[in-house]
Amino acid sequence: MNDLAGKHIVLGLTGGIACYKAAELCRALLKEGATVQIVMTEAAKQFITPVTMQALSNRPVCDSQWDAREPNNMAHINLSREADAILIAPCSADFMSKLVHGGADDLLSLMCLARPVDKVPLLIAPAMNREMWDHPATVRNRAQLQQDGCTVLGVGTGDQACGETGDGRMLEPQELLQDVIAFFQPKVLSGQSVLVTAGPTFEAIDPVRGITNRSSGKMGFAIARAAQEAGAQVTLVAGPVALPTPRGVRRIDVQSASDMLVACVSAAQSASLFVATAAVADWRPAQPSDQKIKKDGSGQTPSLTFVENPDILATLAQSARAQNGALYCVGFAAESHDLLAHATAKRIRKGVPLLVGNIGPATFGKDDNALLLVDANGSWELPRNTKLALARQLVSEIAGRLPLPNAESSHALLRQRVAPTCLLPYPAPSP
Ligand code: CTP
Repeated sequence: MNDLAGKHIVLGLTGGIACYKAAELCRALLKEGATVQIVMTEAAKQFITPVTMQALSNRPVCDSQWDAREPNNMAHINLSREADAILIAPCSADFMSKLVHGGADDLLSLMCLARPVDKVPLLIAPAMNREMWDHPATVRNRAQLQQDGCTVLGVGTGDQACGETGDGRMLEPQELLQDVIAFFQPKVLSGQSVLVTAGPTFEAIDPVRGITNRSSGKMGFAIARAAQEAGAQVTLVAGPVALPTPRGVRRIDVQSASDMLVACVSAAQSASLFVATAAVADWRPAQPSDQKIKKDGSGQTPSLTFVENPDILATLAQSARAQNGALYCVGFAAESHDLLAHATAKRIRKGVPLLVGNIGPATFGKDDNALLLVDANGSWELPRNTKLALARQLVSEIAGRLPLPNAESSHALLRQRVAPTCLLPYPAPSP
């Protein structure tokens, strides 16, 4: 994916051992399609050389406000006008203090002060010793910077270069990359609290065996990430999958459908949107054995009887919060054939305003998918794309359908407001 295509990032480095991570970060930004201009302070150059950063960014490094290479000799103006964002990583405690006070005695601070604040966002990735991070002066500076409109990214926890352990490490390059990508996503779910289920469930037969299905959880994890990027607080209830938790998402791991129901009922109390992506097992063994079922040598196979699992989506869709409009529910349908017919029937059966159909065998385990959106007004296709790209489109579609805060508008009005221009009618017209 080229999530930063067309974006020009000014990457500022200040003094700190985390400068070594900035080299990797520079590469990661470029790999996502951004162009990167490096600006270094004198202190940063004690930790990593401009040669390294020039070679990686493929541009000469800027490190002086007196740079005669600039025709107008105003590097601070030129750099800050060209940028889609300024990212300072690592940002030292000293540099945070300088930003708070509007100091401008080196190129980087001068450029930050000279940037048009409403057009060029400033993001900082702090990096320092844990005592410095917790010091009241740094705490005050952090709060002041946020108040001044600066995005203060988090810090990592763990071993520090000084030998101590605690908060204050700079985030890893891949974490920073995800934060920058998220920063540029439209905040269409700002203020929303989103609950997502993902993955299969596992229904125990005995302590070593069980039944499950081929869902990988990738679509649900992509939706959780897209919702978080869109500004929502996200809780992800995940069946047994080995996927990394999207940044900033609260994850609750469960095994069985019954566990998933308990987790969801509790999390739904404060959610405004529920997206049920999980491929919940329809049945579970009626009497799981608490000891391993052994072969008795007779060749006889055990006979299993099943009971139906609770329907999590239908349960939440019928809850009082969903019925009074406080919880908007979106279902998925994993089908093998007749997608439109099954998805249309399933939307009504589950009692949800929006149902998203996909062909299970064509998408389980893969990184791409194609979706069919079915609501009361008809159906639209989101053509084949990566799961993350589809998740972002879906999030934007859902956002356009959410009741307005004062609930005056009907869904019909909302659909007019957010016309599905990106959607193809289903089935897609022949070329
Ligand atoms: N779902 C759920 N709890 C269940 C079964 C399904 O929450 N016990 C949700 C899924 O997360 C999905 C939707 O219901 O959002 C439809 O799931 P799907 O497996 O496609 O359909 P089923 O309800 O299981 O119906 P069928 O097996 O007949 O297709």
